[in-house]
Amino acid sequence: MLLVSEPTLGEQEKAALAAVIASNWITMGDRVRAFEAAFAAAHGADDAVAVNSCTAGLHLALAALEIGPGDAVLVPSLSFVATANCVLHAGAAPVFVDIDGPGRPLISIEDAACRCTERTRAVVVVHYAGAVADREAWRGFAVAKGLRLIEDAAQAAGAPGAGSFGDAAVFSFYGNKNMTTAEGGMVIARDPAVLSIVRQLRGHGMTSSTRERIDTRTPGYDVTRLGWNYRLDELRAAIGSVQLQSLTKWNDRRAMLTRCYWEALAERCPDVQVPFANGNIASAYHILPAVLPEMTDRDRIMALMRDAGVQTTVHYPPIHTLSFYREKGPSVSLPRTEAFARRELTLPLHPKLTEQDVVHVADALRRSLAWPGVRR
Ligand SMILES: Cc1ncc(COP(=O)(O)O)c(C=O)c1O
Repeated sequence: MLLVSEPTLGEQEKAALAAVIASNWITMGDRVRAFEAAFAAAHGADDAVAVNSCTAGLHLALAALEIGPGDAVLVPSLSFVATANCVLHAGAAPVFVDIDGPGRPLISIEDAACRCTERTRAVVVVHYAGAVADREAWRGFAVAKGLRLIEDAAQAAGAPGAGSFGDAAVFSFYGNKNMTTAEGGMVIARDPAVLSIVRQLRGHGMTSSTRERIDTRTPGYDVTRLGWNYRLDELRAAIGSVQLQSLTKWNDRRAMLTRCYWEALAERCPDVQVPFANGNIASAYHILPAVLPEMTDRDRIMALMRDAGVQTTVHYPPIHTLSFYREKGPSVSLPRTEAFARRELTLPLHPKLTEQDVVHVADALRRSLAWPGVRR
């Protein structure tokens, strides 16, 4: 079965884990600090804060930027549910925004402008599929409207420009991401004061960590803010530092495979649209979303693809259509997001695939689309 995503793990990760165990220091030590420094440097930042998930990082970013009760936060509905959940956890209200369209399924700046009110305090821009949203346009928007800008860069580790323009940017190292620590995330904030608050909130709001107290021989600590336990451990940080060394190589391979998909699908399935195809948008090429022709039985296609040895998934059911959010906002309507999500099909994309695998997937999709009864 060709899987939609697969981590690349090997002897170096095993050795890194063994070294942590041999060191007998298993959380919040030198390896976490080293991972933070290396990840920050790889993204052109001075520093970063490692956390135990991107979800935790988004929550901390909102808290550090003082987004809370009474505030409204613009978010795309075409995202993983964590993007909106974090806004609710911060005590604020998510306001769902439509996408540009099927060729560019990123949060629409025009629709965001229409949904701004005097309560709007922030916007979360998601780099969907790893494609980096327009830096200048979003900075200009945030400045003009007086909003905080947060990049949900969960899917965009290593993409040129990712993490370079938000007041905070948050990355995910979940098992299906371009680099993984199994669970984990990283926060970048350009203002050192904001990053320092994120660091403090990550550890219960305490003024120092266990390691710092040992190193500085100061046993006491204070708590000056209400924080959480969102810490990363040394085992995950050690894996992260190893994975980071291959990130550029893996992203380059994803880019090459994506170009193969553009070609193979254009030839075999000309009525399937591939977002971002042949565009010049910077990307980490995290997933390969395809848009099926109107009136296609997607469930049937997915079953036929499975029979051909190809796993497919959907990114995403729009957040505003999920029961919990539907009950909160029954009248929310985002026509472009809904149309895209009805037809979207995610095809396998990860560095272990070959160009032949891509051709096999495109052939399987061509055959599935030609199956009797699949087109309604
Ligand atoms: C766009 C987006 N935001 C947030 C998350 C949450 O990441 P994590 O699982 O690290 O909390 C994900 C993960 O799938 C994601 O794709």
